[in-house]
Amino acid sequence: MKAPSVVRAVLDFDVAEYVSTTRAVGRHHLDPELRNRMAELYVDLRDALHESDAVFDRRELRVLRFAELALQSEWKLAGPSGGEDGADLLNTVSGPRGKRYQPYANVRLLNQVLGTRRGSSDASIEYRCRQTLRFLVRSWLEYEQRSSDGTETTWGWQRPLTPDAMSERLDRLARLRQDTADWPTLPRPHPVPPARWHDYVGDAGRSDTLEYLVNLPQTQHHDENAFLRVIHLTEVTTSGILARTLGAKTWLEAGRFREAAMCLDRAAALASLQLDVMRVLRRTMSVENFLGFRKETGDASAVQMTSSQALHVHLLGVHPLKVEALEGVPENAFLLFHLNDRFRPLRSLLHDLPEDSDDAAQVLAAARDLDETLYAWRRLHLGLAHRYLPKDSMGSGGTSGAPYLAGFYQDRLFDHAGELTPHPVPVTSPALEDRPVWARAVFSPMN
Ligand code: HEM
Repeated sequence: MKAPSVVRAVLDFDVAEYVSTTRAVGRHHLDPELRNRMAELYVDLRDALHESDAVFDRRELRVLRFAELALQSEWKLAGPSGGEDGADLLNTVSGPRGKRYQPYANVRLLNQVLGTRRGSSDASIEYRCRQTLRFLVRSWLEYEQRSSDGTETTWGWQRPLTPDAMSERLDRLARLRQDTADWPTLPRPHPVPPARWHDYVGDAGRSDTLEYLVNLPQTQHHDENAFLRVIHLTEVTTSGILARTLGAKTWLEAGRFREAAMCLDRAAALASLQLDVMRVLRRTMSVENFLGFRKETGDASAVQMTSSQALHVHLLGVHPLKVEALEGVPENAFLLFHLNDRFRPLRSLLHDLPEDSDDAAQVLAAARDLDETLYAWRRLHLGLAHRYLPKDSMGSGGTSGAPYLAGFYQDRLFDHAGELTPHPVPVTSPALEDRPVWARAVFSPMN
C-alpha cells in the first residue's frame, strides 16, 4: 500500500469495534481475519513511517505512532506460538516478532502511558506510576463490584469466584483503594471505548488507553481478568521502583546520600504496594480457576518482563543462573551487556558507603526496606509456582519452573542479620564471549 492509503486505512480503523469484539469473546478467540488485518496494517504502517521521503504533520504522526503500538501487539500475537522466527509468510516479510508476554500484557502501550519511553526523570515516572496505579486499582475494584452484584455484562463471566473468595478480594481491593486514595489522579474513561485512535493519544487519552486497550484478557474467565490486572499493577510498580533505583545509583555515584536515601524510600513504598497486590491474587484465586485459563495465555511468561529483569540487574547484577533465561528472550538479551567490569549494581555501590555518616546510614536503612519487601515478593511468587503449577511442570517461559525461581530468590542485598552480602562471583555469558567485541551489544529494537 502507498503511504497515503496506509494512513487513511489506519485512521479509519474502528478501535471501538476491536475493543468490544475482543472483550466479548476473549482475545484468544479474536476473529483471525480482524487480527490479520491489524497485523498487515502494522507492517504497512511501520514501513510507511520509515520511508525516507514520508511527510506527516506532527499531530498525525503522534496518532500514527500510537496506533503502531496497538497494531504491533496483534501482529505479534498473529505469529506462531513460541514467538520465534516461524515459517509463516508475514514473519518472512516483516521480521521476527519477539516473545508473547509483551503483546499479551500490552506493555508498550502501558509504558507509553507511564512515559518511560521518553527518557523522563525518575520523579516524573513515579508521579505517572502513582496516577496509573490509583486508576488501575479503582478500575479493578469496580469490575469486581459489578461482577459481585451481577451488573457486569461485557466480560469475565466464566468460572466466577466463590462468595468467600469474592468477599476477601473486595476487602483487599478496598484497602488498596484506601492506600492510593491521596495519590494523583487520572480522569474517568469514557463510558464506551472511543472509535478513533486520536482519542487515545496524549495526556487526554491515557484513561481510555488503560481502560480499553491495555487490559484485553485472552479468555472470558473471571480470574484471568484479575491475573492480567495483577500483571499490569506489577509492571507499573516495577517501573517506578526501577526509575527510583536508577535515580539512587546516580546520587550515590555523586556522593549525594540524602537524595539517594529518598529515592530508595520511595522505591520501597512502591514495592510494598506490589506485595499487597500479589497477595490479592494468592489469597483469592483458586488453582482450578488458574488452570482454566493458563493454556490460552500460551508461552507468554513474565520471565520475559523487561522491567523486572532490568530492576534485578541494577540491584544485584546479573545472576549466573539467569544468563540462559536472559539470552533466550530477544527483548531482554541486551541486559547481558551489563556483564562487564565497569557496570556497578546498587549492591556494589552500597559497599562503598562511609561508616561514620548519618546520611549513609539512611541509605542503608532504605535499601534494607526495599530489599526485604522485594524478597518477600519473590518468596510469595515462588509459592505461587509451587501451588498453581502441576508438580514437576516447566514454566510457560520455558524454564524449569519452580526450580528456576528457587535458584536465585534468596540472592539479596542484605543477609538475615541485616549485613550487606558480599559481591557476587562475576559471571560471563558464553553467547557474548563467542561474539566479536563490536557485536557484544545485543540491544533489541523490539523494546
Ligand atoms: C499463578 C500465578 C503464577 C505462577 C504459577 C507463576 C509462575 C512462574 C514461573 C514458573 C516462572 C519461571 C519462568 C517461566 O515461566 O518459565 C515465573 C517467572 C516470573 N513471574 Fe510468575 N507466576 C505467576 C504469576 C505472576 C504474576 C501475576 C506476575 C506479575 C507480573 C509474575 C511475575 C513473574 C516474573 C517477574 C518472573 C521472572 C522471574 C525472574 O526471572 O526473575 N508472575 N513465574
